Amino acid sequence: MTSSSSSSLSLSRFGQKLCTDAGIVTLMDDMGDALRVNPDMIFMGGGNPARIPAMEQVFEEALHATLDDAREAHQLLGVYQPPQGDAELLDTIAELLTREYGWPISRANIALSNGSQSAFFVLFNLLAGEYPDGSKKRIQLPLTPEYLGYSDLGICEDFFTATRPSIELLADGFFKYHVDFSQLTITAETGALCVSRPTNPTGNVISDEELLKLDELARAHKVPFIVDGAYGTPFPNILFSNAQPHWNDNTILVLSLSKLGLPGARTGIVIANPDMINAFAKANTILSLATGNFGPTLARHLLADGKILQLSREVVAPFYRARMEHAVATFKQHLGDLPCLIHKPEGAIFLWLWCKNLPVSNEELYQRLKARGVLVVSGHHFFPGLEEDWQHKHECIRVTYCQDPKIVEQGAQIIADELRRIYQEK
Ligand SMILES: Cc1ncc(COP(=O)(O)O)c(C=O)c1O
Repeated sequence: MTSSSSSSLSLSRFGQKLCTDAGIVTLMDDMGDALRVNPDMIFMGGGNPARIPAMEQVFEEALHATLDDAREAHQLLGVYQPPQGDAELLDTIAELLTREYGWPISRANIALSNGSQSAFFVLFNLLAGEYPDGSKKRIQLPLTPEYLGYSDLGICEDFFTATRPSIELLADGFFKYHVDFSQLTITAETGALCVSRPTNPTGNVISDEELLKLDELARAHKVPFIVDGAYGTPFPNILFSNAQPHWNDNTILVLSLSKLGLPGARTGIVIANPDMINAFAKANTILSLATGNFGPTLARHLLADGKILQLSREVVAPFYRARMEHAVATFKQHLGDLPCLIHKPEGAIFLWLWCKNLPVSNEELYQRLKARGVLVVSGHHFFPGLEEDWQHKHECIRVTYCQDPKIVEQGAQIIADELRRIYQEK
């Protein structure tokens, strides 16, 4: 992608904000380039889900069933969805969530989007930025590291605030982040709180207690609480620890079909109170006219008889748990006595490595690993809103374990070898 700084295109403030070379765009570009230059690159960056044959078969069957039925095929190809999404599908989602969790919701509480990323763009900009009375609000991230895809979503500057976590050192070379409530202050400038649960990049799962405390704080200050469930409950349920699903009418829960194995379907699901859903659906219609039909069509099949929950619990979660356990064992073996800790993997599809007192920046480590044919993601990208300098930001990397275990082993070996060189060069 051409750099905006080298282009003569004259862009509005909005255009300039969205066409920065920073953050997720540069990263995705860089990864694409690296793979073009070296197709044999060991790919431990990016957020693609793993290929799970049993899931691919279910998707294939659903597609065949759709195409074999003339009415369904027409629904897939020949009609626009209404602003919130197909009413029948919304009913099915509401029934499932009420049946499973007792949430008092109906179709009025649900809207679909073209991927959850675009849902976050709409939600964040509905709740933060300039208000009609001249005040300005921000999206507050109570725990960083947090998903780098949020970083550039605000259409005005200075869009996020964030708090450093406290760090608990655990046995066996693990550590865990916690929300540091002593540092968390909600002010008149807080437009909404937002957490991803499980968290991308760390695999952390904010505990039930932390979640309830954040929920109470949000309600006390009358600000919405956004929970990003891209990896969480009820689907795809990539969770290795106990986490109670959470929703009330101050919560905006955002789900996605992507990590079930359907990133190409671009389908997000927003669950919130009816006023919020109404606002969201209007904004989303202005932006997209309608959401695509592909994801909702597959979702209809997957939701039939609660199949999506069964698949999440019996296929997706055990698959990733096995991959995670293998990746942890492999990294531990190769890292040996290097001063590197692994964040306790409680969910999602990544390991987050903290290389204590790393003599070079994590960005340089990323470049050196790329030169040796391994792509990871430098951890410094994952602190949106955290302005203060913190050495920890420059000591972590994210690796995905979605590739074949053999490839993860090769990657772990090269990463450990390069780290050993770096620590020895010091
Ligand atoms: C935490 C988190 N939220 C949201 C998204 C966006 O996913 P999608 O737009 O595919 O639903 C991702 C993608 O990787 C993610 O990791």
